[in-house]
Amino acid sequence: MDITEPKINDYLLTIISLDASRGEDSGVVKEMERYARDNDFPIIGPLVGRFLRQLAIVTGAKSIFEMGSGFGYSAYWFAGGLVKGGKIICSDGSEDNKHRALDYLKRAGYESLVEFHVGDARDIIKRFDGPFDIILNDIDKEQYPETLDLAIPRLRKGGMFITDNVLWSGRILEEDPDEASRGILEFNHKLFASEEVLASIIPIRDGLGIAVKL
Ligand SMILES: C[S@@+](CC[C@H](N)C(=O)[O-])C[C@H]1O[C@@H](n2cnc3c(N)ncnc32)[C@H](O)[C@@H]1O
Repeated sequence: MDITEPKINDYLLTIISLDASRGEDSGVVKEMERYARDNDFPIIGPLVGRFLRQLAIVTGAKSIFEMGSGFGYSAYWFAGGLVKGGKIICSDGSEDNKHRALDYLKRAGYESLVEFHVGDARDIIKRFDGPFDIILNDIDKEQYPETLDLAIPRLRKGGMFITDNVLWSGRILEEDPDEASRGILEFNHKLFASEEVLASIIPIRDGLGIAVKL
């Protein structure tokens, strides 16, 4: 199921290509998108990327934690919205993704803004007290229910907990949801039932969960 009507999606992708401000500020991002396409690697894409950069700017983000950084595409977008001296802590299970990410981010001029840890993001985040301005959650979907309790205590008040794929191409609506869909359903339920955050789902791309810590 397409979350966004395909013609509207095409229009959105066309209109952002006009942007002359703080959008795609480097040819490196196009290279990253090509790599994702050629290797069938799931990334947040340019529409969500721009939105993440906006959120970094409006929150005046100085510290961001990413659970599931892949090869650095989402970090690329955050990096352009960080305040001077800010930092993004990336985490991913793959050493290869780390090397690829650091190469792209270096070439985009963002290397000094990023610290990349390899391992299980659920363990790595425990090494940090925060408080973070933003935490991005993009790990394996069956692990989503655990992430709320890991992230919220490490966010500042007014900080944002952002989760990708919360509509999972509509698969969350299937009669007999698979393990990944069940993980997302349980997560969404926990997120909206939490007294600690105010949550919403933005139906762009694959559904973006946005929760502000109260
Ligand atoms: C959808 S991709 C991330 C894409 C990235 N956020 C972006 O948009 O550019 C998910 C990544 O999370 C990693 N991953 C999944 N579960 C993980 C876990 N528990 N700990 C660390 N990394 C994990 C995978 O290796 C994969 O690279």
